[in-house]
Amino acid sequence: MNSGLRKNAALSALVAACIALASCNQASDSTGADSSEADQNEATAEKAGDPTPVETPVTKYVNDRQALFDFLNKGEYKAFPVHDERHASTGPHTDVVVYYNQVVADSIRAGNAEHPAGSMIVKEQYKPGESNLYGWSVSIKTHEAGNAGKGWYWIEFLDKNDIANTYPKAPGNGVPECAACHTLGKDLVRSSLPQ
Ligand code: HEC
Repeated sequence: MNSGLRKNAALSALVAACIALASCNQASDSTGADSSEADQNEATAEKAGDPTPVETPVTKYVNDRQALFDFLNKGEYKAFPVHDERHASTGPHTDVVVYYNQVVADSIRAGNAEHPAGSMIVKEQYKPGESNLYGWSVSIKTHEAGNAGKGWYWIEFLDKNDIANTYPKAPGNGVPECAACHTLGKDLVRSSLPQ
């Protein structure tokens, strides 16, 4: 009796699955009628859905923290084409100097709503009244879509002599503690380029 019931339940689950599958097929058939529109929809969905990281010259830093730490410690970001002057942060970042790579500087100047993958911003951090910098906040655009911060990789080194001393809730893509404030900016960038 029990096993009969179970069989029935299994059978009706199977039937339900078949019906669902059939209607899915039907749905995809009907969108297939206009394939260019379907392609477009798919591209938009992919962009919004934050699919895969884009290979760019700065993507390597997301996967190689030592390389990023060395890049910062050697001051190589100072070759970025644009930076502002030291100023008190309006965020939680003490005194700061912000460096923009070419990709993001061009995109901000163009007024783009979203910056391309390969954008990188490095923010030097200083304790007020002290001249030596102690750490860096970094944002790297890994995807074309900002996607509420998920398209950006966030990391903050709190000690320039200790690679392990990072902001505890970062690094990563879409770190809520970073993204929460940064969503107020255009594609999550809060700073303005120096004039
Ligand atoms: C309380 C709000 C707030 C939080 C939380 C926050 N930021 Fe910021 N951040 C700002 C503001 C405001 C700026 C604009 C420049 C300034 O005044 O410091 C900024 C600037 C930056 C910049 C320079 C590029 C830009 O977007 O302007 C980087 C890089 C950065 N933050 C990284 C981070 C990282 C990484 C985290 C998380 C560990 C984080 N921020 C968390 C408010 C915040």
